[in-house]
Amino acid sequence: MNYLIGIDVGTSATKTVLFEEGGKVVVSASWEYPLYQPQNGWAEQRPEDWREAVLKTLSKVVKESGVLKEDIKGIGISGQMHGLVMLDGDNEVIRPSIIWCDQRTGEEVEDMQKIMPRKRWIEITANPPLTGWTAAKILWVRKHEPEHYKSCRHILLPKDYIRYILTGVYATEVSDASGMQLLDVAKRCWSEEVLHKLDIDPDLLGTVYESCEVTGTLLPEIAAQTGLSAGTKVVGGAGDNAAAAVGTGVVRDGTAFTTIGTSGVVFAHSSQITIDPRGRVHTCCCAVPGAWHVMGVTQGAGLSLKWFKDNFCQDYIEEAEKQGIDVYDLINRDVALVKAGSDKLLYLPYLMGERTPHLDPDCRGVFFGLSAIHTKAHMLRAVMEGVSFSLSDCNDILREMGIEVGEMMACGGGGKSPVWRQMLADMYDCEVKTVEQTEGPALGVAILAGVGCGIYESVEAACDAMISKDKSTGPDRGQAELYKKYHSLYKKLYEDLKDSYKQLASL
Ligand code: XUL
Repeated sequence: MNYLIGIDVGTSATKTVLFEEGGKVVVSASWEYPLYQPQNGWAEQRPEDWREAVLKTLSKVVKESGVLKEDIKGIGISGQMHGLVMLDGDNEVIRPSIIWCDQRTGEEVEDMQKIMPRKRWIEITANPPLTGWTAAKILWVRKHEPEHYKSCRHILLPKDYIRYILTGVYATEVSDASGMQLLDVAKRCWSEEVLHKLDIDPDLLGTVYESCEVTGTLLPEIAAQTGLSAGTKVVGGAGDNAAAAVGTGVVRDGTAFTTIGTSGVVFAHSSQITIDPRGRVHTCCCAVPGAWHVMGVTQGAGLSLKWFKDNFCQDYIEEAEKQGIDVYDLINRDVALVKAGSDKLLYLPYLMGERTPHLDPDCRGVFFGLSAIHTKAHMLRAVMEGVSFSLSDCNDILREMGIEVGEMMACGGGGKSPVWRQMLADMYDCEVKTVEQTEGPALGVAILAGVGCGIYESVEAACDAMISKDKSTGPDRGQAELYKKYHSLYKKLYEDLKDSYKQLASL
């Protein structure tokens, strides 16, 4: 039997899974690491932590599986998008990675619009300049830490740094490279025009591959350290959202998914390149060769619930430890007892600013309508509803762009929650489905590895063979109507607070 490995370098942890070639999980391991927030709105992680997590989890799954190393045919890597990793001439990490949800680059985004008109940015990179994306971060380092920029020899994305560690190759692939804002997204190659305008040396960047192409093989020293064979193939892999699409079978027109991980994303496959002229949702290459996707992003989705749990739910954490169960199961149990609308309590999930639909690095989180009637369970429900309203904003824009979604899948940690799926079904007013396999991005890149190693002839064929549908949640009419009213107030709150957010940021 052939085996495949998928690695997902997430924001809260790295998850590595060894699959049978048919998609069945053999062993899975994960390793957590911290997120550093040196200032309000900044977010960094240490690439060395990702490296340690990948090597530890790889060794663990290989050892525990008992599978012959020769039978492990390929590895796919997925990861959080947009993060900036800079290496010096000795391939040492120069500074912590500025990651996807960091919002420090407001000025650099303004500079980018002066360097080239917004319209041209959209024509080439399919997106307007964005604070969370890699190009603005590169400009920030060049302006604020010129000594770091001077010593930089390689610029990589988080998962592509891991590729370098595993294979010694500097490379990326189209789905993740789309989120750097340096790629010609229609032509699927680096844009000479953008690199020239930004004065970024193309030699700093890796070679661009399609997601299922083989990019290199495992280095002998890494093979020895992890128990794998030297020469095991490593394919391009994908940014975590493009990878989750493959892992949920969203590889054809008419299919879409919502993921609630640290970020929240509503993602629709598109065989044509489709761009929102207002730049509220992103257009990127997807992991299926010759296709694209459109996605709206909520910055603080699972992040909001984790923030609330970590800071205010010590009682839940202790109770879960005592019972030996997942703390989120306890939270879901109590949230399900609160009525839709959380008894007139609303939450705006803008802890790290917001992308879709506002593109506003300065907005911040809000509880609106707090009353003495409210309990912690109301606040937890309001957090989950607020995140769902934001995802609904994303879904509304896809609809407005005429993207037909026949099938909406749910995935990520939040997608496992029946209560959260019910909120999405009510607010989107459509069925929300899951697949049996819950590994999302890790499965997606293992599938890409299967295609790259010749086990499957195409991404679509691999998905048909490996992915099976599971549950379906339909909308509750009464709740759907109620949520419409709450959603319009939710939207109004941002408009009302817009100027105050700017004032707060300037204090
Ligand atoms: C997508 C985005 C996030 C990250 C982290 O644009 O920024 O979804 O990939 O998961």
